[in-house]
Amino acid sequence: VKQGNGVKGLVDSGMSCVPQPFVQPPSERIATLNAHTYEAAQPIDLSQLDGPHHKEVATQIIEAAEKLGFFQVVNHGVSVELLELLKTSAHEFFAQPPEKKAIYLKEASPSKLVKYGTSFVPEKEKAIEWKDYVSMLYTNDHEALQHWPQPCREVALDFLKSSMEMVKRVVEVLMEDVGVRLEEERLNSLMGTKMVNMNYYPTCPSPELTIGVGRHSDMGMLTVLLQDGIGGLYVRLENGDWAEIPPLSGALVINVGDTLQILSNGKYKSAEHRVRTTNIGSRVSVPIFTAPNPSEKIGPLPEVVKRDGVARYKELFFQDYMNNFFSQPHDGKKSLDFAR
Ligand code: SIN
Ligand code: FE2
Repeated sequence: VKQGNGVKGLVDSGMSCVPQPFVQPPSERIATLNAHTYEAAQPIDLSQLDGPHHKEVATQIIEAAEKLGFFQVVNHGVSVELLELLKTSAHEFFAQPPEKKAIYLKEASPSKLVKYGTSFVPEKEKAIEWKDYVSMLYTNDHEALQHWPQPCREVALDFLKSSMEMVKRVVEVLMEDVGVRLEEERLNSLMGTKMVNMNYYPTCPSPELTIGVGRHSDMGMLTVLLQDGIGGLYVRLENGDWAEIPPLSGALVINVGDTLQILSNGKYKSAEHRVRTTNIGSRVSVPIFTAPNPSEKIGPLPEVVKRDGVARYKELFFQDYMNNFFSQPHDGKKSLDFAR
């Protein structure tokens, strides 16, 4: 990992046994015992959202966001060609020689918008996650096209732009159900931080010992995720079991983040999720994160507090929430305690 070529570099060098820093304590390994495929997951057809079937589709979205915090969508406005290009360019980014990637390592990166690394907060984790990533923060098109790395910049920006209207619409639908109609300006500000990541989970010689991403919830509003056909994304059910969100060609995964749970006073569930590793091949995924502007104050929305008669979270600046989130290793939904 140190030489700047990530976990991929280790695997490419012919390593056949998982190095100790990546070996998870037994409690964090994914037991096949209570992990299964979530059969009920039917993708939601967004082409019907603003037509005569609005009510049905909105209900599907609302129920999924309340119960599981995860759902898949089709007819989301992002072309199937672009989805394919995204997966290809993610593989291409990580296949580059080490020196091309190492320039984006945290302390060295020529742009504060771009960061390449391994695991989440490796310096604080008990065991390092089996994952390399590059994250691209969005400020505006011009800076994205100037600073984001090749060969992903155009496709990543295209993905962000072609999905944003859909994501906002989904947020609006969720808000309407709690009696909130957000002004355009507030909505934009609540989704003002946007980031596209490309994740690479190299094939792993001993998948039973490692994890791709540890148990966590996302910090923002909604996450939109493209995953490839390898599979391995699991969400925690109410009974504690782990259900796989199965790869569905052409679909996008959407999940609720902590901010939306806070704003909705707990109605919408920021789902705990994790990623397992595998030895069948290297997996890529491309999430888009949407979160408030750092200066935005977040807390349960007044309309919802009035209805519920109690505020379950306190008000805070999103900057503080974010700082706390990135200062701790993945540990389930602990990040939300900061808002209580
Ligand atoms: C994550 O939730 O951090 C990654 C999800 C994935 O790769 O499927
Ligand atoms: Fe996540």
